[in-house]
Amino acid sequence: MRDVNQYTVTEAVKASFKAPEGTRFKFLLDTFIEHLHDYTREVNLTQDEWIGILNFLYDCGKISTPERHEFILLSDVLGFSALVDMINTRGGATEGSNLGPFYLDDAPELRLGGDLGRGREGVCVLVHGKVRDTLGNPLPGAVVDTWQADSSGTYPIQEQERGQDKYDLRGKLTADESGAYYYTTVLPKPYTVPYDGPVGRLLRAGERHAWRAAHVHFIVRAARMRAITTEVFFENTEYLDNDAVFGVRKSLIAKVEPVRKSDVFDYDLERRPDAKFVFDFVLAPEG
Ligand code: BEZ
Ligand code: FE
Repeated sequence: MRDVNQYTVTEAVKASFKAPEGTRFKFLLDTFIEHLHDYTREVNLTQDEWIGILNFLYDCGKISTPERHEFILLSDVLGFSALVDMINTRGGATEGSNLGPFYLDDAPELRLGGDLGRGREGVCVLVHGKVRDTLGNPLPGAVVDTWQADSSGTYPIQEQERGQDKYDLRGKLTADESGAYYYTTVLPKPYTVPYDGPVGRLLRAGERHAWRAAHVHFIVRAARMRAITTEVFFENTEYLDNDAVFGVRKSLIAKVEPVRKSDVFDYDLERRPDAKFVFDFVLAPEG
């Protein structure tokens, strides 16, 4: 290895890892090393640039806490998270989109027709739809786990010091025997991803904004089906074409429509909505 040079170093590093050939781990590692070395040669990286990158990653680690994962945010603004979502969406199933940092897996149950907004101010919308498999069969008992920001663009979990309950604006609904789910909530507003850390510096240096298009998050699960993590956006709202984390897909944009008087009774709603949107979920079989 004494005569290693800028071209042979790549093979030398790969060979230094003795994990068995043919394993996924060795494949991921070798390919990463190849791309990292190719990038370095291609851009002719200087030592100042090299330490700049490493210090940036160090700063991402320094600001991270159990509640703030700066590396996930970095992945989000680089479109890395979106790319992984796209690659892993199954044909015929609802497209995946960002999980984001505000998910809690122990959200309270919400009865069908219940008000997720618990009376809070904002435009009250009826959200309804069906959960089906890729052949169109309903999936009774599917669990629709949802969470969202409020009508000022804030997640209650971010406002706990101001007395907000972190479980507000999140809930799990169980689809009925026809696969239907329905509830009311308030329409969320756009909000910014955290930009007071190294990722914010990156956005500013790249002359980018930190705004996300308004959205509602969903994880939908059903027995023997592949769960989907996705987001639903709203037609004619801001940032659909320049969402800071590349989460928007055409198929995930819902139209907010006027509500019919009878909807309140048809769906046995706790709160009278001002508007509604429909979104159906399609789950592919496991495996
Ligand atoms: C969110 O949608 O909640 C989110 C996604 C990425 C970064 C920050 C927030
Ligand atoms: Fe979000």
